[in-house]
Amino acid sequence: MHLSFRSLSAWLLASTAVASATPSSFNVADFKADDIIKRDVAVIGGGSSGTYSAISLKDKGKSVIVIEKKGRLGGHANTYLDPATGTPVDMGIIVFHNITVVKDFHKRFDIPMNRADEFLASESFYDFRTGKAVTQTFTPSGEEMAAAFAAYLEQYSKYPGLSNGTILPSPVPEELYMPFGKFVEKYAIQAAIPAMYYFNPGVGDILSNPVIEQFRYWSSHMAGGVVAGFLGPVSRNVSDLFARAEAELSSSSSVLLSSEVVRAHRSEGKSGIKLVVRTPSGPKLILAKKLLIAFPPKHDFLAPFDLSATEKTLFSKYISAGYYVGILKNSGLPNDESISNAAQDNTEFTFPHLPAAYSFAPSQIPGLQLVTYATGQTTKSLPLSDEAVKADIINTIKRLQKQNPDKFTPTEPEFVVFHSHAPYNLQVRAKDIKNGFYDKLYKLQGQRNTHWTGAAWKGEDSSLLWKYSEEIVVPQVIAGL
Ligand SMILES: Cc1cc2nc3c(=O)[nH]c(=O)nc-3n(C[C@H](O)[C@H](O)[C@H](O)COP(=O)(O)OP(=O)(O)OC[C@H]3O[C@@H](n4cnc5c(N)ncnc54)[C@H](O)[C@@H]3O)c2cc1C
Ligand SMILES: *[C@@H]1O[C@H](CO)[C@@H](O)[C@H](O)[C@H]1NC(C)=O
Ligand SMILES: *[C@@H]1O[C@H](CO)[C@@H](O)[C@H](O)[C@H]1NC(C)=O
Ligand SMILES: *[C@@H]1O[C@H](CO)[C@@H](O)[C@H](O)[C@H]1NC(C)=O
Repeated sequence: MHLSFRSLSAWLLASTAVASATPSSFNVADFKADDIIKRDVAVIGGGSSGTYSAISLKDKGKSVIVIEKKGRLGGHANTYLDPATGTPVDMGIIVFHNITVVKDFHKRFDIPMNRADEFLASESFYDFRTGKAVTQTFTPSGEEMAAAFAAYLEQYSKYPGLSNGTILPSPVPEELYMPFGKFVEKYAIQAAIPAMYYFNPGVGDILSNPVIEQFRYWSSHMAGGVVAGFLGPVSRNVSDLFARAEAELSSSSSVLLSSEVVRAHRSEGKSGIKLVVRTPSGPKLILAKKLLIAFPPKHDFLAPFDLSATEKTLFSKYISAGYYVGILKNSGLPNDESISNAAQDNTEFTFPHLPAAYSFAPSQIPGLQLVTYATGQTTKSLPLSDEAVKADIINTIKRLQKQNPDKFTPTEPEFVVFHSHAPYNLQVRAKDIKNGFYDKLYKLQGQRNTHWTGAAWKGEDSSLLWKYSEEIVVPQVIAGL
């Protein structure tokens, strides 16, 4: 069988400004009694990992407060509700691994799951810079792909520490920081690469990524899921899980939405942590024993957190990609075929030159196309404005229409919805990996009463982030309470 991994373009894919006077002190006397919140653990970021960890801590009898910048929990989970048909279209997180932690978490909220890996009929390639059709010259057979994936996994399985985060041998073997392109040649796994690339957008130019950065998200679970199938909620509405978790946390006054930490004091020892938080109902003082940070630890985002010199040095090494997803109407593009970007001049794999749209894929709703767009790796947390991305996408469709009038109808495409997922896939450069970045990073766990979870620690994969949070992070947090 020729698996169209694209199909699982499954891996397809607002921030609320809060105005109020900025409070300046941790002095209890400066806050009304109602505005002082005491908890065992303060969780910052209510995306996939933060929501999971908060519920897990609560279920283990700990009191929590989740502080989320946006007006809802769920982070990269986005579900578009088609007003005409009521059909949900998941355009962020879509699929999960068939593992205990995933099944338990969904069961916890009464959400039935079933196999979710509907494959699309077909995929055509065009050079989105010109609109011209591209002939794919490298089309490995299913057998060649399976052999290449097996060879990849044989190398991956040499690093069991990857099941517990990014725990690497010391010194770090060169094999782990060489460019992935070199590794591909060394082990002759070319046949797996187009599938890996198109299945997982938003991770930059994979051939130049250090090997470990590829291993961090293309895990053995991912490869297993491709073979044995993934799980999804029967409703095909991933947001439901997060909405139910949000309702439960709200009912126990355990979540502050549209809220941001403006100042933090994190000390060693028993005095715990203090946070001044800006919320829609005014400033709050949070006194907690432990802090769990569950948002992308980019240096600029961590400014209010009173970073140590070591933290500052480590977190300023991150690079990431811009990753954007939208739904378009009136695109003139087909409802039964994915239109994907390829570059004829990139001779080995014809991967597109970024930044660019990756593909236009049919959604469950005829007439609505899902578009994914990404940049390469960059030091900027927000490399492109939403307006620039949208304009480039519309111009791309126009080029496709103009160049292929027999195939695509000329139209005026419009965005129905658009989400930025930048910064995505935090990673570091080869020299930092060689110099022990990940070892130093993991030494931060628990220091200054602060624990960390989220994609930077494990990899961009919700199921495995829940597993990591459940098995490693939450027990460490609880042990220190
Ligand atoms: C389009 C797309 C499709 C994907 N598809 C899948 C899939 O099918 N299956 C899968 O397993 N994974 C998928 N992923 C990957 C998965 O979504 C991520 O790996 C996962 O969401 C990472 O979880 P996280 O908790 O680290 O970050 P997030 O889920 O991004 O959560 C971070 C949260 O922190 C909040 N935040 C940020 N800064 C602050 C701050 N200063 N204060 C308070 N809050 C803050 C954010 O608003 C956000 O809610 C997909 C990702 C994208 C973008
Ligand atoms: C999930 O895995 C179990 C085995 O652990 C298997 O019995 C079940 O059929 C799988 N479910 C799906 C939907 O693939
Ligand atoms: C992963 O962590 C668990 C729990 O701390 C531990 O029992 C296990 O040995 C670790 N595995 C590896 C490969 O490090
Ligand atoms: C999807 O779930 C969200 C959150 O529970 C809900 O608001 C929305 O109506 C659901 N959409 C559909 C079509 O079921």
